[in-house]
Amino acid sequence: MPRKVNYGVDYDEVYGDYEDYFDDSDIESDAGEVPEVEQDLIKPGTWRCSICTYDNDESMPFCDICEVFREPSSICNNGNNRTVHNMCEESGASIMAKSLFASLPHQKQNMAITFQRQNDDFMRKETNNFCRIENTQGEFYDFHNAFKPPNCSYPVIIAPFKFDCPSPDDLVSRGKQSSKAVSKGALVSITEKNGSVRTVPITGRQEYSSPLASGRQLPANETTRTSSEDNLHSLTNSLSMNLEVNSERSRNVTTRRAASPAQYKPEAWMLSDNEEGSKNQLNLAIVGHVDSGKSTLSGKLLHLVGRISQKEMHKYEKEAKLKGKGSFAYAWVLDESAEERERGITMTVAVAYFDSKKYHVVVLDSPGHKDFVPNMISGATQADAAILVIDASTGAFEAGMDSNGGQTKEHAQLIRSFGVDQIIVAVNKMDAVEYSKERFELIKQQLGMFLRSCGFKDSSMLWIPLSTIENQNLVAAASDGRLSSWYRGPYLLDAIDSLHPPVRDVSKPLLLPICDVIKSHSLGQVAVSGKLEAGALRSGLKVLVMPSGELATVRSLERDSQSCTAARAGDNVAVSLQGIDGGNVMAGGVLCHPDFPVAVATHLELKVLTLEAAMPILIGSQVEFHVHHAKKAARVVRILSLLDQKTGKVTKRAPRCLTAKQSAVIEVVLGEAVCIREFSDCRALGRVFLRASGRTIAVGIVTRIIE
Ligand code: GTP
Ligand code: MG
Repeated sequence: MPRKVNYGVDYDEVYGDYEDYFDDSDIESDAGEVPEVEQDLIKPGTWRCSICTYDNDESMPFCDICEVFREPSSICNNGNNRTVHNMCEESGASIMAKSLFASLPHQKQNMAITFQRQNDDFMRKETNNFCRIENTQGEFYDFHNAFKPPNCSYPVIIAPFKFDCPSPDDLVSRGKQSSKAVSKGALVSITEKNGSVRTVPITGRQEYSSPLASGRQLPANETTRTSSEDNLHSLTNSLSMNLEVNSERSRNVTTRRAASPAQYKPEAWMLSDNEEGSKNQLNLAIVGHVDSGKSTLSGKLLHLVGRISQKEMHKYEKEAKLKGKGSFAYAWVLDESAEERERGITMTVAVAYFDSKKYHVVVLDSPGHKDFVPNMISGATQADAAILVIDASTGAFEAGMDSNGGQTKEHAQLIRSFGVDQIIVAVNKMDAVEYSKERFELIKQQLGMFLRSCGFKDSSMLWIPLSTIENQNLVAAASDGRLSSWYRGPYLLDAIDSLHPPVRDVSKPLLLPICDVIKSHSLGQVAVSGKLEAGALRSGLKVLVMPSGELATVRSLERDSQSCTAARAGDNVAVSLQGIDGGNVMAGGVLCHPDFPVAVATHLELKVLTLEAAMPILIGSQVEFHVHHAKKAARVVRILSLLDQKTGKVTKRAPRCLTAKQSAVIEVVLGEAVCIREFSDCRALGRVFLRASGRTIAVGIVTRIIE
């Protein structure tokens, strides 16, 4: 989970924390006493993280410090809903939030939300919080028909998932359709502040007509009626049809029909340009193999553009040198925790800001170590563009490209799957190879081939040889003759400004996946942070907090620690909320428009692409399911079909297993409900990643929300 970088840190405080890191036992060992056997030091009721060695409470499914999942095999199914079939799952709150406020809300079953099954005829069993579907391996189309509304006549079309272009966006841009069928009419009950319950349909593709557009909140029981409604005969029919399926349960609740896209007219303030003088935000993920120099590069950039003062930098240098980590001084700007500094690796995504000529850049410095890929996913999923940092030194580039453990490839694939199509390849540490043009060309040729296979176009890739340590090609053209003699392209800051501004769709209902939660007990307030994926926000606006289904009011907004009056799609903001209990707000949740809640589901149909060197996926395989800022334990309950990479046609129905580089339609059941949208409705909330045994095994999109 991302955490914000504190500029102008109080060094006494940091130093104090750092000292706290060492416990008494360390000191005793130093004094020459025989250290106890490690096993004996593990307190009863705790388990020790194999990564950072922190002793976690037995109930924690993942490490409280580094957020790495506990080894699945070591967890027994103790009846706890959070521990399912030897798997651990939790959306997880950030280290920062946890350390600041001890009791973050855990995933809580919300009584207010009731999702109604669309096809009760379909056989279903529940086992330990997982829905295990009867092993229906019949005809593929029959299966889909089982989920289709009775009078739905459209054919089931499975979109192609091009093998060498693993971006889910490519699917949609080619106009393919998903095999969605029944989710549109699902209902969600919303508890109003006065205790009354109202039910609204969970919308998929249907857009909304903001009641705010008319300057008022609709009364809870008012049915929206507009002149063009009649033109939407089929949509309305399909909605009513779905509602009828559950008429027994929904008859007594007030329902509201979603308006059509044509009717939606966002308010003027939502569409207006940025505030006077403020630049477009560009969320820039810094990714790449461990130790390639991502944090050093980010810290140096912040320093060179004046965001970190000379005095502050001097302090970092002094501190780092004192700890024998002199070469990490710039990385310490981003790596703030004692653990990160001690180990010399980034563990969570750090967020920092600087202004270029064109953009207000949000730097998302990701961890490169393979153990922290889940944190990288959670933070870098907000990216509009990325800098892929490559270590040019001999052997290091090759290690990053290794299919078994090289993060250059994994990060590139993930970032493309986040929908990022603009990438700057920063070939760093050129000083270590004497600024060799041949080395640069070799890297460009080998990595370029791989990036093209991920779906990056040549025109969207910028290659820059640089040296962070020797300050070559960062914010000015290279001064070292060994580099300037053969490279005359843009330097890094120039390249950032040459990126195209990301498209912001403010014409959709509000969606803000919650990345982080900070509760202030003293003020009774809750603040969340994240990137607005759709719509706009301003103070006083009522928002629906999912999955709890509670309403809250936006009290204030902050962008880069500065308060602002409004935020629009694409902005990375902190939002303080009032009128809601902190226990109902959680990382992995979503702020949305009260009339257009996201779906909260456990049973999903996905179209996936298995990655290179991925382990086989079988029916029953347990995986980690990642979507926006949520991570859940999941089980593959069906493999419906294998797809042809080029045509998207079904080549095999009900295969027994999936191996590397295959695209397929599968169903997963999650251990706990997650806020989700179909990919065709909202890309950011419909992109998923499956991981197992510490590696990403598949990227995919949500094609249907089943339950
Ligand atoms: P993770 O976040 O753990 O993946 O590492 P990172 O990619 O952030 O690397 P980091 O910035 O921590 O730097 C790792 C080491 O590379 C440090 O010792 C840096 O001093 C060194 N380094 C960074 N840039 C350069 C460079 O341009 N030249 C040389 N020679 N060393 C560099
Ligand atoms: Mg780092």
